Amino acid sequence: MYLKALQLLNFKNYSQASFDFAPTINGIVGKNGSGKTNLLDAIYYLCLTKSAFHNTDQASKKFRESFFVVEGIIEHQEMIFYLHLSFSDHGGKILKINQKPYSKLSQHIGKFPCVLVTPYDSDLVREGSEVRRRFFDTLLCQINKTYLEQLVHYNRLLQQRNALLKQIGQHRQYILMLETYDEQLAPLAHFIAHQRAQLIDEMLPIFLRNYQLISQSQENASLSYCSVFQEEGIFVEIMKKNFQKDLALQHTSQGIHRDDFIFEINGNSLRKFASQGQQKSYTLALRLAQFEILTQKTGIKPFLLLDDIFDKLDDLRIKQLMRLISSGKFGQIFITDARPERTETLFHQEGLPINIIKI
Ligand SMILES: Nc1ncnc2c1ncn2[C@@H]1O[C@H](COP(=O)(O)OP(=O)(O)OP(=O)(O)O)[C@@H](O)[C@H]1O
Ligand SMILES: [Mg+2]
Repeated sequence: MYLKALQLLNFKNYSQASFDFAPTINGIVGKNGSGKTNLLDAIYYLCLTKSAFHNTDQASKKFRESFFVVEGIIEHQEMIFYLHLSFSDHGGKILKINQKPYSKLSQHIGKFPCVLVTPYDSDLVREGSEVRRRFFDTLLCQINKTYLEQLVHYNRLLQQRNALLKQIGQHRQYILMLETYDEQLAPLAHFIAHQRAQLIDEMLPIFLRNYQLISQSQENASLSYCSVFQEEGIFVEIMKKNFQKDLALQHTSQGIHRDDFIFEINGNSLRKFASQGQQKSYTLALRLAQFEILTQKTGIKPFLLLDDIFDKLDDLRIKQLMRLISSGKFGQIFITDARPERTETLFHQEGLPINIIKI
């Protein structure tokens, strides 16, 4: 899979821009604030139909403009795909592949997988469980269409359940409706919990191998997911038990939307006790495991988007990463750096050709 060209219109800081890429390694260089990360986000948009950094499409429109367009040409298995993604205040978001619009954007997810490594990956360790769920859910959505559908369905029903909880105070007759929601949510929660647990089982050995490789250490890293909802039939029971609490809180306090993934080193919390270097190695190993799982499941080497990684990694980790890159395990790579000479030197030292794009 190879992104040959990209065109942007009113996308973040770009009024109008076009880029041609090499099928192997592309170094995107330019000063701070010049738009390197934004360019990676545009590629992310083409793969996952949304920004990696914002929850709303509004934020990706150039200031004071009413629309943006991202277009890309992807070559894959000797076929050419023209992707056109646009967003406007009035028309909303539209995605077309070879001029044919998708009726549902979710149909596109997984066709062109990508993995983004960003300095914000530290949020995976430091922030709350939502960030970790989003990481694993995004991965599952790219490899399993049913997972995506069931997750969307679960979230929609959950919103309705929460709206109902707000009304029950005045209208006790709605309690029966709540039970109907719980019966519908139960199989979805069980499926999602089960798929997440299965993913972690598959990912763990890959993650551990990558962690050892990057950190060159003997530390005992671990990654786990343990949800009560893996047990079939438990959902309705828990909702019943939590009824008074949920009524007071006016939202559903427990469910797969609250489950967490546990990151540890030597049996201790990664967030509380690990050094910054250990945390960086951990998140990078997670991203590399994400890459391998996507490759295995989709049969496609995802686009690898590496944002500012050299600034955040020490010499040993850079060396290990360069070794991985030169092993040929990756497909097309996009790597940003505010210091062009550093990127060029690193790649030349490894004898790797790099296409430098100056912004
Ligand atoms: N919606 C938007 N409209 C216009 N400009 C925007 C928008 N969103 C972000 N920007 C601008 O884009 C610039 C940041 O771009 P980006 O984060 O891609 O820079 P960068 O080249 O990655 O910088 P660094 O080297 O610091 O990481 C900022 O100047 C910011 O004001
Ligand atoms: Mg940046």
